Amino acid sequence: MELRKINTADALAQWEFTTALPADENGFTNPYHGVSYEEYSRTVLPALISYEHPVNMPDWFVPESVYYLWDGDCLVGEFRIRHHLTEALREGAGHIGYSIRKDKRGQGYGTAGLKLTVDIAKTIVPETEIYLRVNRDNTASQKVTLKNGAYISGEDETHLFMRIPK
Ligand SMILES: CC(C)(COP(=O)(O)OP(=O)(O)OC[C@H]1O[C@@H](n2cnc3c(N)ncnc32)[C@H](O)[C@@H]1OP(=O)(O)O)[C@@H](O)C(=O)NCCC(=O)NCCS
Repeated sequence: MELRKINTADALAQWEFTTALPADENGFTNPYHGVSYEEYSRTVLPALISYEHPVNMPDWFVPESVYYLWDGDCLVGEFRIRHHLTEALREGAGHIGYSIRKDKRGQGYGTAGLKLTVDIAKTIVPETEIYLRVNRDNTASQKVTLKNGAYISGEDETHLFMRIPK
């Protein structure tokens, strides 16, 4: 199993994953649900690649790296790392977001992928802890974070705020 950064060589597999991913599932948002391969190749993929070194983006936009989890030749999930916190991210989505393909869930990919992602995030983020936010009713995601050393640092009506010490 490996994490591979988003790239043009894997465009087809990345598009298949992206276009099938729901627009919003438990707070993991995907504005590209249903996008055509033509549109993905022409505009979406270059934009997503550029987010690591943003150009002409608004002030609030934090550099973001997109990774895919591969098991052999099968793309099984997506993991995003936002490079540092802003006030909005601190109170909101935090550093890392992820999603595993529906037909691949419950097989340990979420847990294994987050481990690999946290290892990378530890080398990028300046904060002393990795922040994540999980819906209260998202038991699977809570387990994935707890199994990666997270603790619950706070909560609101609908979310648990989790942190993984570096
Ligand atoms: C959350 C998600 C990433 C988990 O990925 P996964 O690959 O299924 O996770 P794992 O297989 O590593 O399972 C982790 C734990 O959750 C449990 N689990 C998996 N699916 C579950 C479900 N639907 N309900 C309850 N527990 C579940 C597993 O049994 C495992 O628990 P265990 O260690 O006690 O056996 C995946 O369900 C997903 O992509 N969900 C939609 C997007 C999302 O919620 N993203 C997170 C936003 S914070």
